[in-house]
Amino acid sequence: MTHILERLPDGAAADWTIPQDWSAYTAQDHAMWDRLFARQAAMLPGRVVPEFMDGLDILRMTKPGIPDFQELSGRLMQRTGWQVVAVPGLVPDRVFFDHLANRRFVAGRFIRTPDQLDYLEEPDVFHDVFGHVPLLAHPVFADYMQAYGEGGLRAERMGAIDRLARLYWYTVEFGLIRQGDELRLYGAGIVSSHGESIFALDDPSPNRIGFDLRRLMRTQYRIDDYQQSYFVIDGFEDLLRQTVGTDLAPLYHELEGTSDLMVDTVLPEDRVYTLGTQAYARARALAASS
Ligand SMILES: [Fe+2]
Repeated sequence: MTHILERLPDGAAADWTIPQDWSAYTAQDHAMWDRLFARQAAMLPGRVVPEFMDGLDILRMTKPGIPDFQELSGRLMQRTGWQVVAVPGLVPDRVFFDHLANRRFVAGRFIRTPDQLDYLEEPDVFHDVFGHVPLLAHPVFADYMQAYGEGGLRAERMGAIDRLARLYWYTVEFGLIRQGDELRLYGAGIVSSHGESIFALDDPSPNRIGFDLRRLMRTQYRIDDYQQSYFVIDGFEDLLRQTVGTDLAPLYHELEGTSDLMVDTVLPEDRVYTLGTQAYARARALAASS
C-alpha cells in the first residue's frame, strides 16, 4: 500500500508491471530467501492461522529458492484465479487497486541484503510473496483482496483513500484473528517479520482490540516500528461481510469531521484481549509447545 505518485518507470508496461527476470537471481539471492523462509517456517506453526501454512503447501512454496512468479501464478490461478506480477517498487494507489480488483497481486522482485535482515524501507519479494501470497490460496481471503481493490477504486472517487488504507494496514498487513479459543497471526507485515511475529502475540505492551470497522478507520498507524494496536477479526467471512463486501460510502460520510484516534488509544467500548484472556493464553501455550 502506498501513496507515492511517480511517473511510469522506463521498461514497465502501462500497468506498471515488469518481468520478474527470475534467471537473474544469484545464488546469494536464493540463499537469502531460504534463510528467511527457514526462520519463519520454524516459528510460525502455532502462531499463524493454519490457512497460511496450508497455502505454503498448496502453492508448493516450501520448494527452496525465490519462487518463480509464473509457476506460482499457475498454481494460484488454478486454486483461486489469482496471479502474482512483478512491479519495480511502490506503485500509485489507482494502479494497485486496479490490479487487486483483477486478481493480480503486485510484488517487488528484489530481495533484501544480509544487513537488512530485520528492517526494510520498501517491501521486498520475501515480504510480498512469503507474507501475502499463501492466503491468496484461501477462497474467502482471495475474495476479500479483490473486493478491497474494487473498494479502493470507489474510495478514490470519494476522496476516502486514507480511511480505506487503514483497513488494509490493520487487516492485510497487521491483522490478528480469533479462531475458537486462540489468537493467531494472519497479517503479511507480521508473518514476514521475525520480531513482530513474536511481539504481536507475546509482548504485553500492544493493544489487541476486537475488530470494529468504524473505530479502525479513525485510528492512525505506525510505519516506523511495531504496531501499538492490533485489531482482531472473528473470521475471514466476517471480515469480508463487514467491510469491502458492503457499500462504505455512508461510513465515509459519517466519519467526515470526526477526530483521529492515536495509535495507543483504548476506548471504554473496545473489546480488548489481555494477557489473561483465554484466547490469548491458549495461543501462547500452543506456540510454546510446538
Ligand atoms: Fe505488504
